[in-house]
Amino acid sequence: MTVSDESKAVIVEDIGDGVWVFSINRPRTLNALNSEIVQQLKEAFDAASKSASARVILLTGKGKAFAAGADISALVNFTPEEAMAFSRSGYELFNMIEGASQPIIAVLNGYALGGGLELALSCDFRFAAENVQVALPEILLGIIPGFGGTQRLPSIVGHARAKDMILTGRKLDAAEALNWGLIHRVFPADRLLEESVSFARDLAAQSRNALGCAKQVLNSSRSLPPQEGLEIENQALGRCFRHDDSREGMRAFLEKRKPNFKKQ
Ligand code: COA
Repeated sequence: MTVSDESKAVIVEDIGDGVWVFSINRPRTLNALNSEIVQQLKEAFDAASKSASARVILLTGKGKAFAAGADISALVNFTPEEAMAFSRSGYELFNMIEGASQPIIAVLNGYALGGGLELALSCDFRFAAENVQVALPEILLGIIPGFGGTQRLPSIVGHARAKDMILTGRKLDAAEALNWGLIHRVFPADRLLEESVSFARDLAAQSRNALGCAKQVLNSSRSLPPQEGLEIENQALGRCFRHDDSREGMRAFLEKRKPNFKKQ
């Protein structure tokens, strides 16, 4: 399906084999994030959470940007209270993404700046085009990242590098971002979506239950003391062994065939 107009701020497509694609669709303003986009993304992730056919989600942007940050033309008129409310609305969305049982892949087709990069940081994977530029440039506007960037970035790249990015606002190219572990894979721009879809299809063929357990345990490892984290892991392992997919996965190995995991 090709949609060229901007009647929807977020386009949702089920492309089959368990993969859904969400595209932010405000290319004229480089997909700058406003309340409408945040709301439509919430609705899209809510729909995916209730659908058996959404096993892996790709999140990308139409045009030359993934998202060039929060919409500065709205921010400029915000009172402090409105700014804080917009920030909290972003937290809700990004917590939905992080807490979703499906793997979510940010496909960075171009600029991922400010809130755009913070959106990507809440996803499980970040794949990028060779020409990507990533930054948290809020300091250059006299503000700070307000969609969780100060909390998520250090846990991904470490404190020293997070300070380098947030205190200077400087842009990183694909090579530096890859070297820092900020993005997982880089592809030529014309192959980015195709490679991302292929990766997503492979992931969608895995056990949905095991992927959800792995994601939950890994997320909790960021905030829990190791002993509590081990207990969460232990409980999740139990859930895997109670699920038919574990028998299927191990039997398939022993029978030298591909596993056929449940589709929901
Ligand atoms: N908020 C609102 N509008 C934005 C925007 C944002 N974050 N980022 C880009 N736009 C708009 C521009 O104002 C421009 O609108 P116009 O055509 O009405 O003038 C349009 O998108 C295209 O952007 P433009 O700056 O002309 O493109 P460019 O290729 O020359 O530069 C960027 C691209 C990303 C380097 C530049 O747009 C930029 O620095 N954007 C702001 C990034 C930022 O500070 N983000 C953090 C926000 S908290």
